Amino acid sequence: MNDPFSPENTQDPASPVLRAEDLRCDFLTVEGIVYAVNGINLSIGRAEIHGLVGESGCGKSVTSRAIMGLLDRKHSRVKGAVFFDGKNLLGLSERELREIRGKRISMVFQDPLNSLSPLETVGRQIAEAISNHYDLAKDELNKRTAVLLERVGLHPGAAKQYPFELSGGMQQRVMIAQGISCEPDLLIADEPTTALDVTIQAQVLDLLKKLREELSLSVLLITHNFAVVAETCDRVSVMYAGYIVETATAGEFIRNAAHPYSRALIDCIPRGQGGGAARQPLPVIQGFPMRHYDRPAGCPFAPRCPRAEKACGELPRPRDLGGGHLVLCHHPAGEAPAPEGIPSPKGAV
Ligand SMILES: Nc1ncnc2c1ncn2[C@@H]1O[C@H](COP(=O)(O)OP(=O)(O)O)[C@@H](O)[C@H]1O
Ligand code: SF4
Ligand SMILES: [Mg+2]
Repeated sequence: MNDPFSPENTQDPASPVLRAEDLRCDFLTVEGIVYAVNGINLSIGRAEIHGLVGESGCGKSVTSRAIMGLLDRKHSRVKGAVFFDGKNLLGLSERELREIRGKRISMVFQDPLNSLSPLETVGRQIAEAISNHYDLAKDELNKRTAVLLERVGLHPGAAKQYPFELSGGMQQRVMIAQGISCEPDLLIADEPTTALDVTIQAQVLDLLKKLREELSLSVLLITHNFAVVAETCDRVSVMYAGYIVETATAGEFIRNAAHPYSRALIDCIPRGQGGGAARQPLPVIQGFPMRHYDRPAGCPFAPRCPRAEKACGELPRPRDLGGGHLVLCHHPAGEAPAPEGIPSPKGAV
């Protein structure tokens, strides 16, 4: 069988840069087991910006940390597979992972000030990110640092400044410069613009789009904001209670979201102000999200779902609605009609 992740095939532009298969992450805590990620499949294309969207606590950051091998091995259990460059990252040693982290896959977090050292200049910190993987002379490091600063829209003179001397948006650009310093295949950006005001958010997202073009960079963009999905992402995966409940192109998702959770999020946003759904952060929908200590046998959204019926007592299998639009639901909107006696969510069919 032709395995898209065999080492011979990894340069195929059509093959995904990373694919998580049945990824599961549990935490062992004194209060019980936290089932944070429950068997997700996620495939990130080459030079694709893939949005991972969902309410706070649904498992987005745990997913990204599991991919990077950053979860504490003592208190967590990670199962499944994460294929990258012909290897299953979950089977690699810490030493092998260090070769990949920062060089082939890098990460940008929400709060740059927590990630940057206050005691070193920006230039030094970017140079360090390069020296972690390449042995270069000081002159060469300085040259590369200057190029990186320009690439992320900063003056090379910023190399001599300390993080606290820069605005939040500039600090995030420095983080991105560090992230791309070794020209990685994949950048994972975990809510990179959440702490920034709207205009600066848009500028940072434009920068990610520009870098994707210039460097053929793939980006996993974690967000809880529809504006980011609509304006920045090529594809989106929606996460709920540790499950990916829907994956589609961003356009298809905004127009034809099929999972009742996605529909509820889209339908309860007031339209007509400031660009409608696409400009809003995730709204609050009725009911409570599932607690991660529980893992029901059936659909995790059933307690909040207006279309729930008997069959939903069994966990649905992902259904392909065509064109790469996948949904984890027995009764997705637009495909199967709602079963008799089950009210349709507003605008869903
Ligand atoms: N180290 C940990 N120990 C126990 N539970 C954790 C740990 N890290 C995350 N969790 C739990 O896993 C779930 C998913 O968290 P997270 O991925 O951070 O959510 P988000 O989607 O907001 O990024 C949450 O219920 C969170 O409390
Ligand atoms: S499987 Fe059933 S309960 Fe779950 S989202 Fe679909 S209709 Fe609702
Ligand atoms: Mg998070």
